[in-house]
Amino acid sequence: MEIKEKEIKMGTISRIAGSLVEAKGMRGSRMYELVKIGEEGLIGEIIKLVGDTASIQVYEETTGLTPNEPVESTGRSLSVELAPGVLKSIYDGVQRPLNLIRDKAGDYITRGIVVLPIDRGKKWDFVPKVREGDRLSEGDIIGEIKETRVITNRIMVPPRVSGTVEHIEDGKFDVTETVCIIRDERGKDHDITSTQFWPVRQPRPFKKKLESNIPLISGQRVFDTFFPLAKGGTAAIPGGFGTGKTVSQHQLAKWVDAEIIVYVGCGERGNEMTEVLDEFPHLEDPKNKLPLMERTCLIANTSNMPVAAREASVYTGITLAEYYRDMGYNTSLMADSTSRWAEAMREISGRLEEMPGEEGYPAYLASRLAEFYERAGRVITLGTDERIGSISVIGAVSPPGGDFSEPVTQNTLRVTQVFWALDAKLADRRHFPSINWLTSYSLYTPGLTDWFKENVAEDFPDKRVEAMTILQKESELREIVQLVGPDALPEREKIVLDVARMLREDFLQQNAFHEIDTYCSPKKQYRMLSVVMDFYEAAMIAMEGGMESLEISKLDVVDDIAKMKYVPEDKFDGEYNKIIAKIKGLSGGGEA
Ligand SMILES: Nc1ncnc2c1ncn2[C@@H]1O[C@H](COP(=O)(O)OP(=O)(O)O)[C@@H](O)[C@H]1O
Ligand SMILES: [Mg+2]
Repeated sequence: MEIKEKEIKMGTISRIAGSLVEAKGMRGSRMYELVKIGEEGLIGEIIKLVGDTASIQVYEETTGLTPNEPVESTGRSLSVELAPGVLKSIYDGVQRPLNLIRDKAGDYITRGIVVLPIDRGKKWDFVPKVREGDRLSEGDIIGEIKETRVITNRIMVPPRVSGTVEHIEDGKFDVTETVCIIRDERGKDHDITSTQFWPVRQPRPFKKKLESNIPLISGQRVFDTFFPLAKGGTAAIPGGFGTGKTVSQHQLAKWVDAEIIVYVGCGERGNEMTEVLDEFPHLEDPKNKLPLMERTCLIANTSNMPVAAREASVYTGITLAEYYRDMGYNTSLMADSTSRWAEAMREISGRLEEMPGEEGYPAYLASRLAEFYERAGRVITLGTDERIGSISVIGAVSPPGGDFSEPVTQNTLRVTQVFWALDAKLADRRHFPSINWLTSYSLYTPGLTDWFKENVAEDFPDKRVEAMTILQKESELREIVQLVGPDALPEREKIVLDVARMLREDFLQQNAFHEIDTYCSPKKQYRMLSVVMDFYEAAMIAMEGGMESLEISKLDVVDDIAKMKYVPEDKFDGEYNKIIAKIKGLSGGGEA
């Protein structure tokens, strides 16, 4: 889908149904072509073509449109502008800066407003990285612009361009000015600016996908230790209302070790996106105490925006993430919630009178979701220097009534490699993050084992398995306890229950709003886990030496273990040694 202007074609509106408009006289148009609708020039995309009739999904409010108004083809696909200035921006689904729309239209979004995604007036300092006469190919970095206080934008030769640098200079340039001229093999000159245009439905090219063998560390114990996500990986986080999808996504946005964050919000309720819009600009980046927005782009679909815009926002988001991936950054995309996008597909499909699939969703729901998550990955980018970049994608899913058997959850789980299952019962008990440790999984675990062994501790994977075995055992024992009561259990099993409680409350529970507990380094995670497992071993020895489980559960080391999570990282060594000494005393005492 080459972006080029062609002869402008005009049709007329024949029917309007919500965010779907039908136009006649559109012969010669293409699928997914961008059109301007009505006198106001609303933005829409052709999603069905039969003869000269086009069905168009409209990204703006359609009330007030009338039949026979003109529809104009643009010859272009729905595209984004990729340039310095994307970071710190807050966009709607079609990359219009929300603040500019507000300035023009007041607090609600009016139609046909033309605002540019990237500020044309701003001059950026361009620092060349190549010289005249250098041979370049697609993806090569020609220079740098300091886009924000923390991120350097690497200006790349666009895909499908190669040749010799004819001219390049440093200086101040806006995003439309030529910073470099490349002469190709046929003697044609290409003016390179710091902007690339890219059609959002088309994945940006790269050289090669790599294995998922490096974790995306989030500092959240249940994620990193139990169900780790890989850099370039995909995760689904489904959960009913109030189970913690949004808090989890915010925690991930704040803490994952990716340089760039793209956050796509599809409003669940009217005020929810307003919260995100108010909150995000004030979030502090824990790594440097600057605003998180310095390395974030926010795409917001409030619930008063037309449904079709939700689809655009997902594609816009992933394309922006690919842009930074191509520069060699680890990027992470959070979408909250993808169910709103799926519902938009259902609504549009219904209006198109397509044959409905499961629960009214279109038959192509599965393939759309798959295509979206397929754009995640850790890759060798274009460019002779073989940079590595990644996009990790984390999609929240909000199944009605928290029932995971519904089509959006099921089709998402078919493509994502990590399943973080939020559990309403845990949320009710205030166990946060309310990730169910028995039903969640990560298919990356085997591939990440070496990394954890080399970078955290040789026995980290073993400790993890031991801990999960205890929790598994607990769930079996609980069934017995329900039948016969806890007193009937043998001492050994009472200890299993005590240690399982420790794992749940002292390790898995993690308060996003606690100053220290909000983030836990992998090393601290490992040490906390090994303390619990050492305690388990020592308690068994003490029990065999005659100590009662009740007595063991009242030891003050049990209290120390419960408070470990609140010990700051820089004081943790001392506390850890103290606890380990007490545990040694316990097993020693038991033997004596
Ligand atoms: N990790 C967490 N730590 C502390 N509280 C949490 C955590 N996750 C969720 N909560 C609590 O649960 C509430 C609902 O979470 P939220 O993410 O808004 O749910 P959802 O987006 O699934 O509807 C939050 O307001 C908060 O009180
Ligand atoms: Mg939410």
